[in-house]
Amino acid sequence: MEKGKVEFWPTSIYQLMSSKVTLLSSPLQGFTDFRFRNAFHHYFGGIDTFYAPYIRLNGKLAIKGVYQRDLALQNNETLTVIPQVMTSDAEEFLYVVKYVQEIGYKELNWNLGCPYPMVTKQGMGSGLVKNTEQIRHILDRAHNETDIVVSMKMRLGYDNPLEILDTLPMLDTFPIKNIAIHARIGKQLYKGGVDWDGFQKALDNTKHTLYYNGDITSVESFRAVKDRFSTIDHFMIGRGLISDPFLPQMIQQNSTDYPENRWQVFKEFHDRIFQEYDEYLSGPTPIKMKMRGFWEFFATSFPNPQKTFKKIKKANNAAQYQQATREIFSEVV
Ligand SMILES: Cc1cc2nc3c(=O)[nH]c(=O)nc-3n(C[C@H](O)[C@H](O)[C@H](O)COP(=O)(O)O)c2cc1C
Repeated sequence: MEKGKVEFWPTSIYQLMSSKVTLLSSPLQGFTDFRFRNAFHHYFGGIDTFYAPYIRLNGKLAIKGVYQRDLALQNNETLTVIPQVMTSDAEEFLYVVKYVQEIGYKELNWNLGCPYPMVTKQGMGSGLVKNTEQIRHILDRAHNETDIVVSMKMRLGYDNPLEILDTLPMLDTFPIKNIAIHARIGKQLYKGGVDWDGFQKALDNTKHTLYYNGDITSVESFRAVKDRFSTIDHFMIGRGLISDPFLPQMIQQNSTDYPENRWQVFKEFHDRIFQEYDEYLSGPTPIKMKMRGFWEFFATSFPNPQKTFKKIKKANNAAQYQQATREIFSEVV
């Protein structure tokens, strides 16, 4: 510190105030499709780039209609979107590269993070992190046979957080645009804490640009991550953005204050996604399950989360659902 200069704040807070951060929407299959992304962007903002939920082929070289609609440019006109693939097969990877390039995307994100045993047992998702040779093979082919920009999204490993350390030196030999790391291992699923020491080790052992991902659920938790990893300037937010869609804009404004019309805006957002999913999904059960899934997240930012979610769970048809949401919003708006 300079002589005579009074230091009011620790250095980290100066860094926080001066450096611009980029926030990315981390994909959630079943939640962050184009309907959600567009509504989110319209009502809240604060997100620079949206990663689309993964495309999975299951052995068939064909892109399902649901993925096609999700990535169609006309459904994402005002958004920056990066498609994602989950595979451990080079032919599948190249097939998806060709598809996304044909519709106009320049980058493909590769999912090496999914923790579910049905995926990892087939050597995909976080089950692929330790398979350095297969990752090299796919990256070799992608870079030799196409001009796609590849980025990756990984966990630290499946069984232990050292797995990524064996893979990172090989990744240094490829022009990967960035690697987003969800600082957990696959075996944890979503339980337990994030492993900041594991993330730091990854940071110390790569030449690539790392993005941080995991458990950013509030402005305070964002500040804690930013404080710990002062060189990181890209942060991915997944569940926290669904639980509290105001979070990205509040992080960008470095403020813990909600706008005065918080619940009114939230209600309009809710009504829009409900209407769109109701139009798209046929029959009473799919829309009930879809909205129940969202409310499992939404309820956590309401004054009484358990009571709120209980009301939604009890609603068995459209009229009861409308009544439940009327009651929930009447308590806050
Ligand atoms: C229901 C669900 C679906 C997910 N789908 C995807 C996906 O399609 N692609 C992906 O890379 N990650 C997926 N994830 C992981 C999240 O993007 C994110 O990495 C993880 O939740 C940790 O970040 P968070 O603590 O900010 O949520 C999913 C997570 C959940 C809970």
